[in-house]
Amino acid sequence: TLVSAADMLKKARAGKYAVGAFNTNNLEWTKAILQGAQESNSPVIIQTSMGAAKYMGGYQVCIHLVEDLIESMGITVPVALHLDHGEYEDALKCIEMGYSSVMYDGSHLPFDENLEKAKEVVAKAHAKGVSVECEVGSIGGEEDGVIGSGELADPKECKAMTDTGIDFLAAGIGNIHGSYPENWAGLSFETLEKIADITEGIPLVLHGGSGIPLDQIQKAISLGVSKINVNTECQEVFAAATRKYIEEGKDQIGKGFDPRKLLAPGTAAVTELVKQRIEWFGSKGKA
Ligand code: G3H
Ligand code: ZN
Repeated sequence: TLVSAADMLKKARAGKYAVGAFNTNNLEWTKAILQGAQESNSPVIIQTSMGAAKYMGGYQVCIHLVEDLIESMGITVPVALHLDHGEYEDALKCIEMGYSSVMYDGSHLPFDENLEKAKEVVAKAHAKGVSVECEVGSIGGEEDGVIGSGELADPKECKAMTDTGIDFLAAGIGNIHGSYPENWAGLSFETLEKIADITEGIPLVLHGGSGIPLDQIQKAISLGVSKINVNTECQEVFAAATRKYIEEGKDQIGKGFDPRKLLAPGTAAVTELVKQRIEWFGSKGKA
């Protein structure tokens, strides 16, 4: 069964580690993420963007897929199914349907509206034991059509947002979705420290986890980051492993074109990356 991410992340915050939140797109990725977490004896968050859920056939398919794989794969580590960057209507839909965690992302709206909607989502989610993430400021770059300005979060707005009762907060601290440009200034630890101080122990979320150097990841965790989102890096290793398989002509040998064989190297590469990131984030053995 799926668990809410609230307890998972409270423990992570207290224990000074972070839980990886990995985006899924299909059967193979979902298996790969579950496998990596199980082999690491680590809690894990599987998340779908609105677009990925649509691609997979809808939220109900995602719920059944994750729940049934937990059963059939014999997964014993805690697993949360989370909606990533959800609009208001989609967040409510996922709460209703059986996601165990949702992000309501109103960061593109005027702040007062973001706050009002967040309150409504929290009320509906908590009535069903579902955890809630909201965003203040903006994550730079683009993810699945969601484009952000990269504006640093205002600590006062962060405090107002956590006062709504959300379970964890995503704040823009110079992080960017997708790969980081050569001239990236790095995370703003000054902003992160101010936010952590004023929000008094609420778990913080680092979006755009792909391509952030380990030392910055570790410093961010020491300052209160308890959930780290990774998407692009999984896509990159999947594509690279699949390309290698095809370039080596392995799809032409025997029944190497069978999708169960063709997709196996990419799937294994995602599992490996998940295990590596779990080590980086410090959640190995924390299930
Ligand atoms: O919400 C998902 C993440 O923030 C993923 O970011 O693609 O840069 O790893 P990433
Ligand atoms: Zn994100």
